[in-house]
Amino acid sequence: MADYRVKIAGVEFENPIIAASGSYGFGREYGQFYSLDEIGGISVKGLTLIPREGNDAPRIAETPMGILNSVGLQNPGVDYFLEHELPFLKQFKTKVIANIAGNTIEEYCRMAEKISDSAVDMIEMNISCPNVKEGGVAFGVCPATVEEITHAVRQYAKKPLIVKLSPNVTDITETARAAEAGGADAVSLINTLTGMAIDIHTRRPILHNNIGGLSGPAVKPVAVRMVWQVRQAVNIPIIGMGGISGGEDAVEFLLAGANAVAVGTHHFVDPMAAVRVMEGIKNYMDAYQIERVSDLTGKVQPY
Ligand code: SIN
Repeated sequence: MADYRVKIAGVEFENPIIAASGSYGFGREYGQFYSLDEIGGISVKGLTLIPREGNDAPRIAETPMGILNSVGLQNPGVDYFLEHELPFLKQFKTKVIANIAGNTIEEYCRMAEKISDSAVDMIEMNISCPNVKEGGVAFGVCPATVEEITHAVRQYAKKPLIVKLSPNVTDITETARAAEAGGADAVSLINTLTGMAIDIHTRRPILHNNIGGLSGPAVKPVAVRMVWQVRQAVNIPIIGMGGISGGEDAVEFLLAGANAVAVGTHHFVDPMAAVRVMEGIKNYMDAYQIERVSDLTGKVQPY
């Protein structure tokens, strides 16, 4: 029997597949297609201290090989999540990761404190959302700020802390090192790349917010490159994501240095995406007679 389990910051996942935040809501809709026990973890839609309605529509635009989004962190708020969504998720073995975003460092700290008293397994600090006027990526592009906010939240987070990194920087290894120095237990990467699409007939941007975040297969080579670079820069575990739509994509991320992978945008093409990616990893492991999925991490042989 092959071993698909992975351990991240002391938390054991049944397999390395995590549903990426923002692509999976709180799991209820996907739970109609398969048992949520089939995936290792779920990172829930980004939570804020108070509920948010998000940005004005249109806030999704299809692009070649991907989508642009400017959702603007629509969510029911952290208290609603803890009271109404977490009990549903905790019926399953899948690990629950609370993705949090704030306007201020204090907001991140207050959310980390609230979540620390709950059955959530891990906290993912989102300092990379490009679609909000305050907070979000503003915290995630300067290494000194990344270290400061990570250090502050670390004091309140009694759960393992993942820092979700932005690709919209010159050198992602600097922000990854800053997160590690601030006390992060793991990093996840990449969030979306900022982009824009224009309707040439109306001459107006397609997104009401003018710009948004690009995800999907178009970003995969950028994401794999960044995971590979970050693997060499930090010693903490990496959750790799960006354009994964099949098992072979996921294996690329593992070989580049990821300890687990997150499936995001492909959920909008195929609601079974996460389980199909896991099937693909199993097929690869069978073909190459690999016993433990963790043996794949970082095994790329660079020239
Ligand atoms: C959004 O809600 O705008 C997307 C979240 C993110 O990119 O982190």
